[in-house]
Amino acid sequence: MCGIIARIGHGDAAETLLTGLENLEYRGYDSAGIAVQNGSGVKVHKCSGEVSELKSQLEAHPNGNMGIGHTRWSTHGPPTDENAHPHTDTVGDVAVVHNGVIDNYDELKADLRSKGHEFESDTDTEVIPHLIDEYRAETGDTETAVRKTVSTLEGSYAIAAIVDGEEAVYAARKGSPLVLGLDDDEWFLASDVPAFLDYTDEVIYLEEGDLVVLEPDSYQITDLDGTPVERSSDTVDWDPEDAGKGEFDHYMLKEIYNQPTSLSNTIEGRASDGEVSFENLTEGTFSDVDAVQFVACGTSYHAAMYGGQLLRSAGIRTEVLRASEYESTTGPVDENTLVVAVTQSGETADTLEAVREATSRGARSLAVTNVVGSTAARTADDAVYIRAGPEVGVAATKTYSSQAVTLALLTQQIASDVPGGEPAADKATLLESLQDLPEHVEEVLESSQAEAVARERLDSQSYFFIGHGLGHSVALEGALKFKEITYEHAEGFASGQLKHGPLALVTDETPIFAVYSGRGDEKTKTNAIEARSRGAPIIAVGPDDHSLADAADTNLSVPDTHPVWAGLLANVQLQLVSYHAAKLLERPIDKPRNLAKSVTVE
Ligand code: F6R
Repeated sequence: MCGIIARIGHGDAAETLLTGLENLEYRGYDSAGIAVQNGSGVKVHKCSGEVSELKSQLEAHPNGNMGIGHTRWSTHGPPTDENAHPHTDTVGDVAVVHNGVIDNYDELKADLRSKGHEFESDTDTEVIPHLIDEYRAETGDTETAVRKTVSTLEGSYAIAAIVDGEEAVYAARKGSPLVLGLDDDEWFLASDVPAFLDYTDEVIYLEEGDLVVLEPDSYQITDLDGTPVERSSDTVDWDPEDAGKGEFDHYMLKEIYNQPTSLSNTIEGRASDGEVSFENLTEGTFSDVDAVQFVACGTSYHAAMYGGQLLRSAGIRTEVLRASEYESTTGPVDENTLVVAVTQSGETADTLEAVREATSRGARSLAVTNVVGSTAARTADDAVYIRAGPEVGVAATKTYSSQAVTLALLTQQIASDVPGGEPAADKATLLESLQDLPEHVEEVLESSQAEAVARERLDSQSYFFIGHGLGHSVALEGALKFKEITYEHAEGFASGQLKHGPLALVTDETPIFAVYSGRGDEKTKTNAIEARSRGAPIIAVGPDDHSLADAADTNLSVPDTHPVWAGLLANVQLQLVSYHAAKLLERPIDKPRNLAKSVTVE
């Protein structure tokens, strides 16, 4: 949802800014731009389209040791050259990039217009450079002007600004992420670490209300009143290699194939000797919890459904709520309610808002996230990391698997801590079979027939996904992934619901992917067979030892394992089906239209 970057140091900035923007394109790719400062004015280059378009339009990299950059996911105004960032004031002395939404931009714009400022774009952002310009004229000092500007803004922002003739980058954040990167002879600011991971792994996660001034040889962080604040630095343990595409055609495929490794990392040290232990959650952490609410969006919501069902079957009162619907769907909340925010990025506005709402009603909060230092991790009372490593493809794959495993483990700890909770009767077997999951995923990846299935069913009218119990959330996730990257119509249903309406749509043009967990999943089998007798091709996705496999047209089989993990293996098969279908349809797999990875607006 827009990525910003800034760099100041010795030597030219443009190359670094452009590479950084490419690494941030998962946040938006409608338009891109950079501005650099080279002592003879602020030079802005921007256009609609991806960063590659911007690069192809730049005949030579503009000179300048400091600059800012932006890759956009449009909120205010279509993706045109004019609406691309950076934006400037009327004379072009101040250039600004912004991630977030300025709620009071209309009134600010009207006021600025009445003072003679001229605007060129439809964006909310453009008021920011004009305000800085206005306050510079009033106070004679840029830092004071930036401070006054951000205290005038309502809404959310991470901004970076450069000003003609000044060897400095000014930046501030509220409600949108901003990370400072510290290298030996250069500083960076960015929405996320991969933007500068090629150069440094030493970072400071800026806090709400921080204002930063970077100069070539120093930086200072202050609060909104101008009081200096100390922020400690962290070392990021992501390998720059993890952020690249490697030998794969797409990030999505790389990330699907990375799952044996990412799952091993998720599990490491957390499930041994028949017990679950999280590094930062001591035994008894949840002893005063009497109800759990999961809040999440999209794929993370499907992982939360997975965890929610396991927790419910461990005897804990559990709700799984779509974060955007929190206010209208929550049951009673008090200090014994644990709200678990499941969010890969840790920045999803709907999820953060749901947590704020729950905590304002007294709930205690826990973030389950992939991104260290993300807003969710910093604002929740506790955080558990899923340790999946960076995920760049807009369609979430490996993070779903790591979320579901983390939640399954968390379920066991909560059920042990809460009086009356019932950890799985076969906990030892469950945890033992979890150790085989990475290898089982490897087997699926090596033997999958997903490409052939995708090819065979390519010209279908609609794609249905059904599943029961844990398989229901996998079916919903399979359908979401499929529609997201193929642009074909796909729907997920609880197996037993097919006959209550959707069956009317079933023809020989509606293949049904039936996710079954093997033993005892009669609902999926019966409903799939009913659909088959109406002509629907059935693709059974699950272990081979089930009679549905014999009744289906095709099987995408998974190794036999504990039923809790079988759904995750089925999901890997479905990830591959979506990927291959999208590839055959020549879709832009890593950057599906209209979507962005990190949705920081409500
Ligand atoms: C789909 C997808 C999205 C995200 C959703 C929540 O492939 O990636 O549905 O799952 O936007 O994002 P996070 O997990 O960052 O809160």
